[in-house]
Amino acid sequence: MGGDPVEVSSPAGGVGILGLGAVLPEHAVSHDELAQRLDTSDEWIRTRTGIAERRYAAAEVATSDLAVAAARAALADAGLTAGQLDWVICATTSPDNPFPATASRVQAALGARHAAAFDLMACCSGWLHGVALLQGLIRAGSCHHGLIVGAEVLSRIINWQDRSTAVLVGDGAGAAVLGPVAEGAGILSVLAGSDGDGYEHIIMPAGGSRMPATAETAQAGLNAFHMNGRDVFKWAVRQVPEAAERALELAGLRVGDIDLFVPHQANLRIIDAAVERLGIPAGRTWVNIQRYGNISAACIPVGLCEARAEGRLKAGDRLLTVAFGGGLTWAAAVMHWI
Ligand code: ACO
Repeated sequence: MGGDPVEVSSPAGGVGILGLGAVLPEHAVSHDELAQRLDTSDEWIRTRTGIAERRYAAAEVATSDLAVAAARAALADAGLTAGQLDWVICATTSPDNPFPATASRVQAALGARHAAAFDLMACCSGWLHGVALLQGLIRAGSCHHGLIVGAEVLSRIINWQDRSTAVLVGDGAGAAVLGPVAEGAGILSVLAGSDGDGYEHIIMPAGGSRMPATAETAQAGLNAFHMNGRDVFKWAVRQVPEAAERALELAGLRVGDIDLFVPHQANLRIIDAAVERLGIPAGRTWVNIQRYGNISAACIPVGLCEARAEGRLKAGDRLLTVAFGGGLTWAAAVMHWI
């Protein structure tokens, strides 16, 4: 039992995404279906959020199942085997179990015997935090190839007593394999930040050491997703452009140099406000919130995967991506797509 520990020598050159994979559950949940459980309407959800439908995983499907499927696709896309992975990181807000790490289950299912594995909790920005970490590990010589998967089954932690959050989220997974690339290609800049003063704004109140889960907390809807939507909205409208501008500055680029902007898909109004403030030209922003809602850590890799499949993200393109979420956390990156 047990894999070998990670031992890699330091590479020269850049770090980039070598392969991508995404998986979305088949079951699309309409606003009409939600309206059977909640006092809501198609009109309210579309106009306030931009969401038209979202996907929910089947009852027997857990976060690691989606993560493994996305990871396998990313490995195949990279032309690598699981045995070549040194690190398996799973970014998730909805792990299979509170512990151990969902990444350990992913590692075992993939057969990534040489990989270290752990979960990364930075909510919706988790996947980009993982990209930042892997870049550092690869540069430091502690990793040759690393997997970062963002996977969520948020439908299991919906607070059905709160219509303002229940309609927002969905399930899905996206994965990337990172590794060495030519100098000047791949990741040009990446940053990650946190403002823990906003800890309470996006939270599952019960189920941890501060408030263990009990029958009473379950009854009160506390073992579920809670959000102070208005404050998060105001913060995100300011934070997304700031993070984007800083990532561009670090990469030595301007907004006009960017071929595709892939923002976190939490609310179409937040995306529109960021696009306007940054001055991103029309037709250069990726939006899929209408199909999936907010799939948290899976948003960015699913978006990259779909954008590439649709020919919107091509070799040589310059990509800007920004995520934000619970913590509060945020992250941004600029990449020269390979
Ligand atoms: N259907 C119908 N009416 C609704 C619904 C609904 N689903 N939800 C709320 N309303 C009502 C409210 O009750 C309120 O009614 P009232 O004026 O009579 O009291 C009215 O609509 C306005 O409610 P607000 O909460 O002010 O609505 P708002 O326009 O702020 O939209 C939303 C709410 C969509 C949550 C928005 O605040 C938002 O998107 N915030 C940011 C979310 C985000 O970016 N999260 C980050 C990541 S989440 C993560 O990490 C997993």
